[in-house]
Amino acid sequence: MTVNSRPGSFSGDKAAAPMIDPFGRMVSYLRVSVTDRCDFRCTYCMAENMTFLPKKDLLTLEELERLCLAFIAKGVRKIRLTGGEPLVRKNIMHLVRALGARVKTGELEELTLTTNGSQLARFAAELADAGVRRINVSLDTLDPDKFREITRWGELSKVMEGIEAALAAGLKIKLNAVALKGFNDREIPAMIRWAHARGMDLTVIETMPMGEIDEDRTDQYLPLSELRSALEQEFTLVDNAFRTGGPARYVDVKETGGRLGFITPMTHNFCESCNRVRLTCTGTLYMCLGQNDAADLRAVLRASEDDADLFAAIDEAISRKPKGHDFVIDRARNRPAVARHMSVTGG
Ligand code: 5AD
Ligand code: SF4
Repeated sequence: MTVNSRPGSFSGDKAAAPMIDPFGRMVSYLRVSVTDRCDFRCTYCMAENMTFLPKKDLLTLEELERLCLAFIAKGVRKIRLTGGEPLVRKNIMHLVRALGARVKTGELEELTLTTNGSQLARFAAELADAGVRRINVSLDTLDPDKFREITRWGELSKVMEGIEAALAAGLKIKLNAVALKGFNDREIPAMIRWAHARGMDLTVIETMPMGEIDEDRTDQYLPLSELRSALEQEFTLVDNAFRTGGPARYVDVKETGGRLGFITPMTHNFCESCNRVRLTCTGTLYMCLGQNDAADLRAVLRASEDDADLFAAIDEAISRKPKGHDFVIDRARNRPAVARHMSVTGG
């Protein structure tokens, strides 16, 4: 067996086999949380005083690249960089450029990013140049005071500048809003109109019980079935078969001509079509967003230059991919389903 010296490529007699889990689902999508740090502290996501991973535990950008290339060799076609906030990781464009090059050669179908938009004004043009075509921007309100309240530290005007810069650079934008009872539910119609008027899709998300926060999630949780009924008072929503391969279900909004997505991890479980795994910035692989089981790829990565061991470790992890999550938010079970915060695995 020979191994090409280029990291992540494997030209031996045993080509890297595709990743198929025990339920027959093929894994073709990798989400990479490049940092657990963030310049915001959204109240549903983080506690105000967060302890972040020690810097010494982080993989270098080169190590993250090698892992990504190993996953590409094993059939990953789409990579999303997340965080925390991916654009606060130092020199992140180095990784974006390296992976963007794989889009240009066709080895990767798509490289995307989920960002809070705070640094987008600075990075938008470079991202587009590196081969990124679409990004998700998290935005829960258009009101500057409410924005400050929900993010604790964020400034809406910066995010707005970032969105403008991204649109100007030709990036397609999908906005993600977490639906929060009594906070932004009444504002969603205005957000739909605003997003659709600018050619952006909007997806609303149910809040998920991940990590300790300072507030009671039972107070924040809004089932999207309720939101949809409320929206139907104002809009004509037509079910659409459009899929991005993710958990969102889409409707066309007749009045705006735009698309609205619903991500309902709480009210509808969509695990049967799950095609993804999640890698953290310390090289831990989570096979499910809503479960604790994980595989340490950092030790294997550092033990050898040879990707064969890495492929074997990935195969072993995929063989443990669970059937699904079981998120619950109610008064009786008012603790997170998983202890880690969303910012560790990036949603
Ligand atoms: N539940 C639902 N969505 C969350 N996000 C962060 N924490 C949670 C949570 N507990 C969202 C962010 C962002 C995406 C990555 O995940 O707002 O849009
Ligand atoms: Fe940061 Fe996103 Fe979490 Fe807000 S939701 S604190 S922007 S990682």
